[in-house]
Amino acid sequence: MIMANIIDGKGIALKLREELKTRVEELSAKGTVPGLAVVLVGEDPASEVYVRNKGRACEKAGIKSVQHTLDKDTTQAQLLELIKELNADHEIHGILVQLPLPDHIDEQSILEAISPNKDVDGFHPFNVGRLITGNPVFEPCTPRGIMKLIETTGVDLKGKEALVVGRSNIVGKPIALMLLAKHATVTICHSRTRDLEHAVRMADVVIAAVGVPEMIKGDWIKLGAVVIDVGINRVEGQGLVGDVDFEKACFNAGHITPVPGGVGPMTIAMLLVNTVDSAERMHETKAQEA
Ligand code: GUN
Repeated sequence: MIMANIIDGKGIALKLREELKTRVEELSAKGTVPGLAVVLVGEDPASEVYVRNKGRACEKAGIKSVQHTLDKDTTQAQLLELIKELNADHEIHGILVQLPLPDHIDEQSILEAISPNKDVDGFHPFNVGRLITGNPVFEPCTPRGIMKLIETTGVDLKGKEALVVGRSNIVGKPIALMLLAKHATVTICHSRTRDLEHAVRMADVVIAAVGVPEMIKGDWIKLGAVVIDVGINRVEGQGLVGDVDFEKACFNAGHITPVPGGVGPMTIAMLLVNTVDSAERMHETKAQEA
């Protein structure tokens, strides 16, 4: 019986955050303390938890974290005004507007208002375009974390069959492009795909990002495959459950991420990395101009 290597996302994320401290200290000593602004509109409980965790992680890494919590009735114009201020603030190197936004606010207009130079989420069309053309500046945090996890397995993606299940702007589409950049043959499946099982059975690498608990059955997984589960589904009586039937998949997979403790911790770590990358870039630009 083969048992999969369980990818320790929590441990890998902690190590990354530890390494980041040195970069933050060096940059701070040169006069630039990395700063991240996190904007939350409304009272979505899950978003509140995410935002709080992001703030704590920043503090631990020595990054200045500024949180703006706005009332759910905040107008689009008010939110745009805040973004304008943050774009101009020299102590802020990263701006993150937590999604989803209330219905009366046009999400795309907000994402496009954030300076592409401070877009640590990588959601601005400029950064999306740079990713498509293979010249990324900011890569979205969750996909960047996923690539790091795959890297730790030592599996070379070149020529491999990679399957992405899910087509969101936050995970599915960007991770597909990043796998493609590493020379994988990429397939994207989604809720209208006719034969998901067949696609999973063919895949050397499976990225599950659909948000349906245990939609991907364990016996569909090809022997030795790398399985990355982005799903965080709260199921009554079971706690947090991924998009993959983890227990059964462990018998087939070569490497697999657990839920929780897999992709989740990597997303925050990569947000910190993107913020420090940004602060370093801005520091360099300023030094060259001086
Ligand atoms: N909501 C869920 N995931 C994300 C993310 O990666 N960034 C932002 N800004 N909001 C989110």
